[in-house]
Amino acid sequence: MKAIVHVDKKWGIGKDNGLMFRLPADMKFFRETTTGNAVVMGGNTLRSFPGGNPLKNRRNIVLSNTLGERDDYKIVHSIEELFAAIKEQKGEVYVIGGAAIYRMLLPYCSEVFVTKVDADGDADTFFSNLDEDENFSLESEGEELETNGYKIKFCTYKNNNVKPL
Ligand SMILES: NC(=O)c1ccc[n+]([C@@H]2O[C@H](COP(=O)([O-])OP(=O)(O)OC[C@H]3O[C@@H](n4cnc5c(N)ncnc54)[C@H](OP(=O)(O)O)[C@@H]3O)[C@@H](O)[C@H]2O)c1
Repeated sequence: MKAIVHVDKKWGIGKDNGLMFRLPADMKFFRETTTGNAVVMGGNTLRSFPGGNPLKNRRNIVLSNTLGERDDYKIVHSIEELFAAIKEQKGEVYVIGGAAIYRMLLPYCSEVFVTKVDADGDADTFFSNLDEDENFSLESEGEELETNGYKIKFCTYKNNNVKPL
């Protein structure tokens, strides 16, 4: 299992249950990375999507105790149910947020794709600072590029102490 996220300078990830920036290059990277695989998200992240609809061309697994079942996503009600659902997946599984779900699942992720945005998005929701986490090391750091006026960098962190599912 892997995680994918974009963060601002302070490791902020969201504001008012939405994203802080529109980043076309990052959206493309996210779409290309996750398409054809399973994505795991929390109820708030699903509610933040347009119309509360899941992502197309991906198996959507949603942790929630309030959302009802739908044909186009699978609801799981606990971490145990989630792990059982993950074990049934054939392709890669990406944890796609939000903060509560990243916090819960980060120890089980072997890698984290972090898009770093060189801006302060005035976030109210944060990712854990992987530079200060002894379990994680920076594996690769891409060249800075610009998208919609923002400077971003694609980075990969490796978990050196992955917990088994
Ligand atoms: N920058 C990025 O890459 C990125 C990516 C994703 C999200 N975000 C942002 O992150 C923010 C949302 O994060 P968040 O922490 O508020 O919400 P979240 O992690 O998306 O969802 C939290 C919800 O997940 C469900 N949940 C959590 N633990 C559970 C458990 N053990 N069993 C069953 N259900 C469980 C509950 O849903 P119910 O309330 O439905 O029961 C809970 O309210 C938004 O601002 C969003 O835009 C940013």
